Amino acid sequence: MLIRKAKVADVPGICKLIEKYAKTGELLIRTHASICEDLLSFYVAVEDDEVIGVGSLYIYDESLSEIRSLAVSEGHMGKGVGKKISQKIVEDAEQLGIGRMISLTYQIEFFSKLGFQVIEKETIPQKVRKDCLGCPKFFACDETAMVINLN
Ligand SMILES: CC(C)(COP(=O)(O)OP(=O)(O)OC[C@H]1O[C@@H](n2cnc3c(N)ncnc32)[C@H](O)[C@@H]1OP(=O)(O)O)[C@@H](O)C(=O)NCCC(=O)NCCS
Repeated sequence: MLIRKAKVADVPGICKLIEKYAKTGELLIRTHASICEDLLSFYVAVEDDEVIGVGSLYIYDESLSEIRSLAVSEGHMGKGVGKKISQKIVEDAEQLGIGRMISLTYQIEFFSKLGFQVIEKETIPQKVRKDCLGCPKFFACDETAMVINLN
């Protein structure tokens, strides 16, 4: 298994993986076009030429970033793939000098193990403005906001 920056040839595999978890409400859907647009921010885990894991870095401003579109295919869960992709994304944000990274998630234990802590969503208005206002679950959001301070 190899973790590396995404290439254009990975886009269909990335789409497929994200779509699978978007259907169950665990991830926000990403279109083919939006993945291409943000491809430089994506990491993939690849095994036998197949995309088995994905994750991306989104930057709001110099003080705030987000780990997005993190997913590992069902057959490869529990082997450290999600952790390794997340660590790459955290490292990139640190190297860029960004102050904090957030995640909005159902995977509290996974992110706790990476050093993230639970916070109130009200403390991240940038995220609420970007994604939450147009979300059908806005008044009944059951995801947990988590943050890690970088550097
Ligand atoms: C969350 C997800 C990315 C984790 O990927 P993974 O490769 O299975 O996780 P890892 O094997 O790297 O796990 C790292 C650690 O977290 C723990 N962990 C992972 N998923 C967990 C879960 N659902 N509940 C409790 N602990 C979990 C592991 O046991 C491991 O602990 P350890 O370091 O003490 O051994 C994967 O389950 C997934 O794709 N889920 C569906 C999409 C999703 O929810 N993405 C997150 C959106 S914010």
